[in-house]
Amino acid sequence: MCGIVGYVGPNIDDKALTVVMEGLARLEYRGYDSAGVALINGPTVDVRKRAGKLANLQRAIQDVPMPAANTGIGHTRWATHGGPTDENAHPHYGGSDGKLAVIHNGIIENFHGLRTKLIAEGVQFRSETDTEVVAHLLARAYQEVGDLTKAMRTVVAHLDGAFTLLAVHADEPGVVVAARRNSPLVVGLGEGENFLGSDVAAFIGYTREALELDNDQIVTITADEAVVTGFDGTPAQGKSFHVDWDAEAAEKGGHASFMEKEILEQPLAVEATLLGRTDADGALVLDELRIPVEHLRSVNKIVVVACGTAFYSGMTAKYAIEHWTRIPTEVEMAHEFRYRDPVVDKRTLVVSISQSGETMDTLMAVKHARELGAQTISICNTHGATIPRESDAVLYTHAGPEIAVASTKAFTAQITACYVLGLYLAQLRGGSYADEAQQVMRELHAIPEKISQLLGQMDRVREIARFMADTRSVLFLGRHVGFPIALEGALKLKEIAYIHAEGFAAGELKHGPIALIEPGQPVFIVVPGPDTPHGLHGKVVSNIQEIRARGARTLVIAEEGDHDVEPFADEVIRVPQAPPLLEPLLTIIPLQVFACELATAKGLDVDQPRNLAKSVTVE
Ligand code: G6P
Repeated sequence: MCGIVGYVGPNIDDKALTVVMEGLARLEYRGYDSAGVALINGPTVDVRKRAGKLANLQRAIQDVPMPAANTGIGHTRWATHGGPTDENAHPHYGGSDGKLAVIHNGIIENFHGLRTKLIAEGVQFRSETDTEVVAHLLARAYQEVGDLTKAMRTVVAHLDGAFTLLAVHADEPGVVVAARRNSPLVVGLGEGENFLGSDVAAFIGYTREALELDNDQIVTITADEAVVTGFDGTPAQGKSFHVDWDAEAAEKGGHASFMEKEILEQPLAVEATLLGRTDADGALVLDELRIPVEHLRSVNKIVVVACGTAFYSGMTAKYAIEHWTRIPTEVEMAHEFRYRDPVVDKRTLVVSISQSGETMDTLMAVKHARELGAQTISICNTHGATIPRESDAVLYTHAGPEIAVASTKAFTAQITACYVLGLYLAQLRGGSYADEAQQVMRELHAIPEKISQLLGQMDRVREIARFMADTRSVLFLGRHVGFPIALEGALKLKEIAYIHAEGFAAGELKHGPIALIEPGQPVFIVVPGPDTPHGLHGKVVSNIQEIRARGARTLVIAEEGDHDVEPFADEVIRVPQAPPLLEPLLTIIPLQVFACELATAKGLDVDQPRNLAKSVTVE
């Protein structure tokens, strides 16, 4: 939520502007209702900002070019305080001399009191944002201490909430100062130039060497160094890391949208997430977990916390984790978990799932779980992000950068990582599923090839999607692991095509939702394979008959060779055969493709849907 870039480098033409604008383009997925940039230009700071997408800012700069500079900051916004207007866009000037500018991600919770006080003292505000309060406080502090880093230290002591702040001052050309508390910030280390970003995508075109910071730290970058201190001024050191993907991975590579590209990358995402997790004998090894094995053996309850798509990946994984480990597993939306006095103790394992590793709701749930004494494992796709750092252990998904707001490859990678974790726990704890773990791993290794095959046969799904571009409502039904897939299929459609879509458990249909069925109502049904235990396949086939009898248009996702569905299906979308618990890694694919194609047919911006942001760093 909100993208932030900072840069200090050599005095070469418009290098600062180029770096900042490129960084903003790569971070635009984080928020895109306005954008702005500030460059140090002689005695003042030059600010340009525009409501709307980054293209508006680009045009404004083309019309009236900005000066050459070696120091700059830039921001792309997801509005919290104040609507998306030019005035509310960042950067914000502090004071009235045009010398200091600030950008911010997060929320200053005590801004109202601070603002009232400043207004009473005669400060004139130009925007409705909480950020402008910080800008004025910083300008005042700077007047007193004459040093931007010290001024930042003074100001953060008065702020409550979550924030990443970046500031520049015209009297300190060649310096950007940043502070972070519970909000993302990474430093990019170049040669004769240094960078700041909400994530490494901001500077990946220039360097792959980065530094992660802890909470409550300030970093001051110049062209030659990055100096880290605590909020109290104690010297500190960031933790350096190398980014294992390059700029090309964060580009569209000829695809119409990032979402389309990311859907197609799923075979690789699943494969990479499985890689290196077994030894020569096929046993699972998760050295990276760093939680004592005895502790994992003693776990008597698992709680999965996550939001959005990550939540549905957790819901999917619950079936497998409970089945393999026999450990009771709850899955809860992170924002609900923390505020209901959950029963959690030191024998509880709290598994958070987050693509970005920055979702504030999930981060707060993890912190709460630790306070209650639980062991916490983060399943995350972003190296150096806050949630893995705040957790006892991390299991990275290796899906590569995910840019489209609607999550696709991270979802299948998250399910894969949860399965690896579940199988590892089963192996540790012994029991019948320990022996089966290697067999399931072999079946998992066969999944990427099956996803590739499936992706190659999506023409009919695309046709159906284009045909349905004017549809106003779509329902999704599933049972067992197909239920969270129905929910995720509906979420995809809501997110990017703005169509009313709902997912239901097929068994629940008769208890209410069947009343929604009227002639022509399109319904996707995720059908379990014929081998699924407890006769679930037959029960879902009956559900299809029930809705078809009431006029529904049935779009049936079924395994190859499942002929039972044919008499009741208006369309059959085939997926390769797989063991029941692994089916979600396949059945979700046509639903992702469907949503992407339908939104494209409606002429919508698939990658940047309205009102959403990829990484939600506010509660
Ligand atoms: C936002 C995004 C969703 C995403 C959710 C969780 O709401 O729009 O696409 O699933 O956050 O994100 P995370 O980074 O924690 O997986």
